[in-house]
Amino acid sequence: MYQLIDGKRISAEIRHEIAEKVAGRANHGLTIPHLGAILVGDDGSSETYVNNKVKDCAEVGFKSTLIRLAKDTTEAELLQRIALLNADPGINGFIVQLPLPRHIPEARIIESIDPRKDADGFHPANIGRMVAGLPGFLPATPYGIVELLKRYKIDTAGKNCVIIGRSNIVGRPLSILLSQKGMDATVTLVHTKTRDPRYFLGEADIIVAAIGSPGFVTADMVKEGAVVIDVGTTRVPSDQTKTGWRLAGDVDFVNVAPKCSWITPVPGGVGPMTRVALLRNTLMATELQTGV
Ligand code: GUN
Repeated sequence: MYQLIDGKRISAEIRHEIAEKVAGRANHGLTIPHLGAILVGDDGSSETYVNNKVKDCAEVGFKSTLIRLAKDTTEAELLQRIALLNADPGINGFIVQLPLPRHIPEARIIESIDPRKDADGFHPANIGRMVAGLPGFLPATPYGIVELLKRYKIDTAGKNCVIIGRSNIVGRPLSILLSQKGMDATVTLVHTKTRDPRYFLGEADIIVAAIGSPGFVTADMVKEGAVVIDVGTTRVPSDQTKTGWRLAGDVDFVNVAPKCSWITPVPGGVGPMTRVALLRNTLMATELQTGV
């Protein structure tokens, strides 16, 4: 019988730990973490994500400031706002919500963020630190997955770990974290040009699916007793919900789960964990900047 990896429960546990640390800081008169968020334009999903981030901050006792900019904001104007946040000692960490309007190049914007305030962990300096195995800010989804594995004491040492998808925000950084000393997995990154993905999946002790293709991983691809982590969150039409859609994972859960030792559900698996990464990074930024 398989066991569920409950990301909702673990993320609540981590939020509770962070809230206790913030309360402790308040009691000692220390700086309360303050997150800034810049939202350019009026994309509906981005609006929801940013509002959730502000809500998460309030829940753990952080301060937050949301800066809304019009969709025709120029790159120069955005760079100016970022420079202000970089220089503002009252802001410990901030994010620029992506995607940006098409006329603004994301790479230049990310590079303009002070790496010490880069709560998303997207700046090349922070990616470099991660690759080098140095402590620092971690990207949200890889952090969430590693934390789930650690807290469920799922052994990764010497295990064959197959990650499907080589994105800059999930697959590739996760491949780096899982192969590092301490995690010690043997990592294979499978992608669109991989000749025979089934060959690798058949030998996998741990599978992480991060491609955004509903039901891609089927039971015949999975070894008996495997651990399966499903990062997919694709909106698909549904007549069972009020919204008219539901979230679909990359794994055919109903048929794959019976073969697994552990598996994450969608929703309620990796998703809730990604939101706590921002809180973790913002607290870490505050501790680094204030020395306590
Ligand atoms: N858009 C979707 N996910 C993210 C994220 O983690 N950070 C930012 N800044 N934008 C996003």
